[in-house]
Amino acid sequence: MENYKKFKIITYGCQMNVHESEKIAGILSELNYVMTEDEKQADIIVFNTCCIRENAEDRAFGNVGALKKLKKANKNLIIAVGGCMTQQKGFAKSFHESYPFVDIIFGTHNLDNFKLLLQKKLSSKKTIIEVLEKEGSICETTNKLRSSYPNAWVNISYGCNNFCSYCIVPYVRGRERSRKEVDIINECKSLIEDGYKEITLLGQNVNSYGNDLEGVTFASLIKKISQIEGDFRLSFMTNHPKDFNEELIKALAKSDKISKRVHLPVQAGSNRILKLMNRKYTREDYLSKVNLLRKYIPDIAITTDIMVGFPTETEEDFMDTFNLVKEVGFSGAFTFVYSRRKGTPAAEMDGQIPEDVSKNRIMALIDYQNEFNREESKKYLNKTVEILCEGYDDKKKMYLGRDTYGRMAYFSSDKELIGRFVDVKIIKTGGISLLGEVVKVK
Ligand code: 5AD
Ligand code: SF4
Repeated sequence: MENYKKFKIITYGCQMNVHESEKIAGILSELNYVMTEDEKQADIIVFNTCCIRENAEDRAFGNVGALKKLKKANKNLIIAVGGCMTQQKGFAKSFHESYPFVDIIFGTHNLDNFKLLLQKKLSSKKTIIEVLEKEGSICETTNKLRSSYPNAWVNISYGCNNFCSYCIVPYVRGRERSRKEVDIINECKSLIEDGYKEITLLGQNVNSYGNDLEGVTFASLIKKISQIEGDFRLSFMTNHPKDFNEELIKALAKSDKISKRVHLPVQAGSNRILKLMNRKYTREDYLSKVNLLRKYIPDIAITTDIMVGFPTETEEDFMDTFNLVKEVGFSGAFTFVYSRRKGTPAAEMDGQIPEDVSKNRIMALIDYQNEFNREESKKYLNKTVEILCEGYDDKKKMYLGRDTYGRMAYFSSDKELIGRFVDVKIIKTGGISLLGEVVKVK
């Protein structure tokens, strides 16, 4: 191992980025690099950045800046910065001026080219900058070095056409492109053959999959994937309420492979704010989709994303959101304070909300949701649930995994259980996670 060069990848943001880091890791291992967690040991450090909110961006800036010392100590260290952040208009030039010690700046549209960029850098003293303005067609050649066994991420589409008024994604990830159905199905088949137990389909809006292809929809795609032989769970993210339709709900209800959880970001419960956000549905539309979903799959777990402090949000608007959260009873809610993103329509709106107001609103939501989770988890006491064992927590010295509803459980065993379906009897409930005893290993 000692003769191999080593790489470390630091990932910010969503699952899309986590999976893209697996692709960068695949490229680096093709070049005979091996992974390390220790940045002092690394020959190359790659930052895979996110710019969806200011705090993710600030963290990336801080962490890149902190590497200046390491770079001084090791002149051969290569630092590469890629991901959404670099795709912003004019970013690469000003970033290069502020951080001249960064060796490679690359975008999201040319990930497949990373090998070439690195080779170029190894034979040049100059900074290599390649950020393509326009997205290309989908490239199928990149190998992946997966690190989330027993789960495997599978891209089904890239980019987004929705242009929610607060969101930078359509500007940095380009227009929506769907991968060919046959490529997705082949990838899923080979992952299941390789022993992966959960496939999670990824797209900024998986529900509009196929809009740019002939004769396929997201519903037809998941029907086909769930017909693949084998013992696995099928999950997907993320959905858009405007495209979440009855055909899809029926397809979800029919398959026993599909996990019983749906992430359906609502963002806000006030019709006035939803309109300003350009979300293209009303509070009533959202609630009727939730009802329809529960009509077909009564025990479905619904999770959501909620944003507070969108420009002009009044106390009354916020209460509409808060009451919607109470009405639906989400199994989980990711809450965000609105972050002003340059270049988006919302950044130009009057009525930006003071930070302390947004903080109070988000705290009220978090407190409510935590209490709701605590109460919900009590229902698990003394029940036996099927858990897919995902990993081992070294601190707790216990295995952990999730049930089909996405609920996390911890349990002990002296057997190797990662990647196995295990029946676990819940003996203690707390906040979000549960504590159980193994009843049966399947
Ligand atoms: N500010 C705060 N949160 C945002 N999100 C997207 N853009 C912003 C922004 N400008 C949130 C949305 C989305 C999730 C992935 O990130 O809630 O669903
Ligand atoms: Fe952003 Fe809206 Fe697209 Fe989601 S659907 S990525 S929030 S523009």
